[in-house]
Amino acid sequence: MGDLPIVRFEEKIVETVKENPVVVVIGETGSGKSTQLPRILYRRGYAKSGIIAVTQPRRVAAVSVSRRVAQEQNVRIGEEVGYAIRFEDRTSEKTRIKYLTDGVLLRESLFNPELNQYSVIILDEAHERSLNTDILLGLMKRLIKWRHSNLKVLITSATLDGGKVSRFFSDCPVLTVPGELFPVEIVHISEPPKSYVEASLKKAIDIHVREPEGDILIFMTGQDDIEKLVLKLEERVQSLEEGSCMDALILPLHGSLPPEMQVRVFSPPPPNCRRFIVSTNIAETSLTVDGVVYVIDSGYVKQRQYNPSTGMYSLEVVQISKVQAKQRAGRAGRTRPGKCYRLYPSTVYHDDFLDATVPEIQRSSLAGTVLYLKSLDLADMDILKFDFLDSPSVKSLEDALKQLYLVDALDENGSITSLGRKMAELPLEPSLSRTLLEANELDCLSQALTVVSMLSSETTLLPAPSKSSEKKRRHTPLNLPDGFGLGDHIQLLQIYEQWYQTDYNIDWCKENNLQVRGMLFVRDVRKQLSQIMQKITEGSLDVQTSNRRRGGQQEYKNLRKALCIGYANQLAERMIRHNGYRPLGFKSELVQVHPSSVLKSDEDGMLPNYVVYHELIVTSRPFMRNVCAVEMRWVAPILAKLEKLNVFKLSGGSSQPDNQIQEVALTVEKKEIAAVQPPEDRASMIQAARERFLARKGQK
Ligand code: CDP
Ligand code: MG
Repeated sequence: MGDLPIVRFEEKIVETVKENPVVVVIGETGSGKSTQLPRILYRRGYAKSGIIAVTQPRRVAAVSVSRRVAQEQNVRIGEEVGYAIRFEDRTSEKTRIKYLTDGVLLRESLFNPELNQYSVIILDEAHERSLNTDILLGLMKRLIKWRHSNLKVLITSATLDGGKVSRFFSDCPVLTVPGELFPVEIVHISEPPKSYVEASLKKAIDIHVREPEGDILIFMTGQDDIEKLVLKLEERVQSLEEGSCMDALILPLHGSLPPEMQVRVFSPPPPNCRRFIVSTNIAETSLTVDGVVYVIDSGYVKQRQYNPSTGMYSLEVVQISKVQAKQRAGRAGRTRPGKCYRLYPSTVYHDDFLDATVPEIQRSSLAGTVLYLKSLDLADMDILKFDFLDSPSVKSLEDALKQLYLVDALDENGSITSLGRKMAELPLEPSLSRTLLEANELDCLSQALTVVSMLSSETTLLPAPSKSSEKKRRHTPLNLPDGFGLGDHIQLLQIYEQWYQTDYNIDWCKENNLQVRGMLFVRDVRKQLSQIMQKITEGSLDVQTSNRRRGGQQEYKNLRKALCIGYANQLAERMIRHNGYRPLGFKSELVQVHPSSVLKSDEDGMLPNYVVYHELIVTSRPFMRNVCAVEMRWVAPILAKLEKLNVFKLSGGSSQPDNQIQEVALTVEKKEIAAVQPPEDRASMIQAARERFLARKGQK
């Protein structure tokens, strides 16, 4: 690895780090920032007084880069070199270089605000502008003041505007490591294609047939596209005349791939074989695949976007930014001159693409982050004034405060409650940590732990889709339970309980089309969460015994109540006159229960008046995903709280609000009140009765 650009700058880097508490290192992707920087500092003795931490925004990168470095250092993973991601800690006493997700480092700072175990903290991939890395940037600024004599902070990035970060850290030095990229010829398509999957297919085969050797990297937007394109490529490659061109190896690359599939892209290809790597934007900067000469850039990326006014998420395929397009093209010139085919006209690139990607902090729900900041107990902590590299919108901070207030994590003055502190200790979103704590009170913790663990291991939620059809699952396979029609959380619980009854039998998972790896992960997560709960509640719970108990009707009911309290900000009321639900507390349009839900209407054909939902997501229409029926008497206290809501007070602002803000707070309040009238008024009751009558009639 002696030839990586970063290694040639070793002296300069070490010298600068020695003289400065904070250093920004900018270097092309693949220049060795993630793998070599910590090794250099390790060689130079920086791991003697503490551990060298390297954060990664992506779990996959933390795992794969640490494995690579362990290999280079000739040690086993988990010993001198290890990694820690949520629910998976592969470090030990011996660990000197620790890769961890930025989220894990944030959590660690909650328990140890000075992060004393670390002598060096490298915030890697800062250009990704992940929410957690952005928060860490703000925290490092404080930390450096406390620990200026024994902490080094490095911020590394492929493309970041170094000047901006440098100014943020009182003009710290910026080291630029020149990459040695070969020229990349950029070819734009003249007309935007109808389908970028088809266009990529055509281009890839074209390259394969006509161009000299070299791997092809294709940027798609997500797992669906990737699977589709991989299938098509396989088909097409097979139909090529034998011997007409070299062999082909087609490899998908995305975050939900099992680890053994992910590492395949790093092993060298067999001789006389061209690799097609079909990837998400993970290969843009966080993972470098050697041997790529051709890049096909769809010009799109799938982005999760949160709208604080409506409480809705959307998973949208959006245009990439100019910075991203340049990164993608750069991947073609690592080993020799390459070519990048852009599946969009150059006018689109120039006129439509944003210069840089919108940072995650400006498109995420901030409830977890705000709870975290509040629980740090920093002096002068007015959340609305935290020192961010780029500030989130006031609207989204207010949304977060509102949610935290509704789940009792903050009191009406915006101070964190003792409940809120306990919630912050759980590595979960606030709604789920609140559910666990309530469940503990209601004596159904064991059940709630199961549900929360199932929800936290997303990959297992749905039975693996069958190959033949991509259709949404409307009915559960016959042998899986149906949640008594009360909702998806109950079903998740029942599935796990059935598995438990088989003594965690792996064949049972396979028979029921559940991912084995995922289910084992759920079991592991559940164990970890129950340990944390033991700690938080000072051992006052007996999870082990309750684990042996089958959920009785009372426990299901208590569980639903706990969910109702945890999801207080994710509550929807059925609109009797319209076909749909209205999410309470938001300016939302009507939403529907997702077709995959097991929620059922009652014997009168009516869906429940109130449900809580895990997520509101806009796909073709706005849907609630993972819903659970709740009862009016549990809902009433939440409605009352909504009425009292004053966002300005919640933010911790102590001075008199200026008029404008006050006005905003008041209008929000009025709208909330208007939104929370329960459907129990006379007119709608009559209407409801009529609907029920008609529904009954329709059944006969
Ligand atoms: O972080 P940066 O993009 O600057 O580069 P890096 O991730 O440190 O990668 C440096 C070199 O190590 C590249 O040539 C990668 O191909 C290689 N590498 C690898 O072979 N396997 C990994 N899991 C990670 C890096
Ligand atoms: Mg890197």
